[in-house]
Amino acid sequence: MARVAFVTGGTRGIGRAICQRLKADGFHVAAGYSGNEAAAEACARELGIMVVKGNVGVFADCQAAVAKVAAELGPVDVLVNNAGITRDGFFHKMDSEQWSEVIRVNMDSLFNMTRQVIEGMRERGWGRIINISSINGQKGQVGQTNYSAAKAGMIGFSKALALENARKGVTVNCIAPGYIDTEMVTAVPEEVLKGIIGQIPVGRLGRGEEIADMVAFLAGEHAGYVTGSTLSLNGGQYMAG
Ligand code: CAA
Repeated sequence: MARVAFVTGGTRGIGRAICQRLKADGFHVAAGYSGNEAAAEACARELGIMVVKGNVGVFADCQAAVAKVAAELGPVDVLVNNAGITRDGFFHKMDSEQWSEVIRVNMDSLFNMTRQVIEGMRERGWGRIINISSINGQKGQVGQTNYSAAKAGMIGFSKALALENARKGVTVNCIAPGYIDTEMVTAVPEEVLKGIIGQIPVGRLGRGEEIADMVAFLAGEHAGYVTGSTLSLNGGQYMAG
C-alpha cells in the first residue's frame, strides 16, 4: 500500500518540489500551507495532491491538519518539516516579533507537527521525519540570528529524536540546503545575493528538485540505516563535519 507523506510549506518553493517528487515516487501526498490560497489551489490542481491549511506555529492547527490528512489519505508515514520564514535584520536592530515569529514557525513547528505523528509511527514500526534545516544553521549568517538559531535548533532536535526512535523503525534526519532558487532567496537584496553566489564553488543557486531527490532517498525503504544525520546540499559553500 502507498505510504502517506505530509510536507509542510508544500505548495511553493522547495516544499512543492518535494511534493512533486514524492508523488512521482508513488506516495499519497498532502501539502500544508498557511495563507497563499492561489499557490495552494495551483499546487492541488497541477500536482493532483491534497492541500491542507494551517499555521505550523500553532499546535491546534497542526492537530487539525494531521487529522484531516489521516481521515482522507491515512496515517502519516513521512513527515517533511519544511515550512519556514525569514525576518532578516541585524540583531542590534531586531525586535521581539522578528525573533519570535521565526522561532515559532521554524522551530516550534517541529514540536507542533512531529508530536501529532510520532506515536503512530512508533506503533506501526515505520516512519520518516525529515527536517529541512539550512546552511545558515550550520555556519551562521549576518542578519539571521533568529533564523540561524532556529535552523541549528532543528539539528539538535533531530539528533535527540533519532536516538529515541532508532529501535522503532523511525528515522529522523535533517537536510541543510544552501541557497536554493526560491522566492525566499531571490528576496535577498540583489547586491548581497550576488556576493553570496560568488561564494558558492559550484557557481550557481541550487534547485528545489535537488533537495527533493535527497528527501526521496531518506523517505524510501533503503534509508533505514540513516538516522540522526544532517545532509548538506550547498554547492560546496560550507563543508560541515
Ligand atoms: N558582515 C559584517 N558587516 C556587514 C556585512 C557582513 N557580511 N554586510 C554588511 N555589513 C555592514 C555594512 O557594512 C554596514 O556597516 P555600516 O553601518 O558601518 O556602514 C552595516 O552592516 C549595515 O549594512 P546594510 O545597510 O546593508 O544593513 P541592512 O540593515 O540594510 O541589511 C541585512 C542587513 C538584513 C543583513 C541584509 O544585508 C541582508 O538581507 N542580508 C542577507 C541575509 C541572508 O543571507 N539571508 C538569507 C535569506 S535566504 C535563506 O535564509 C534560505 C537559506 O536557508 C539559505
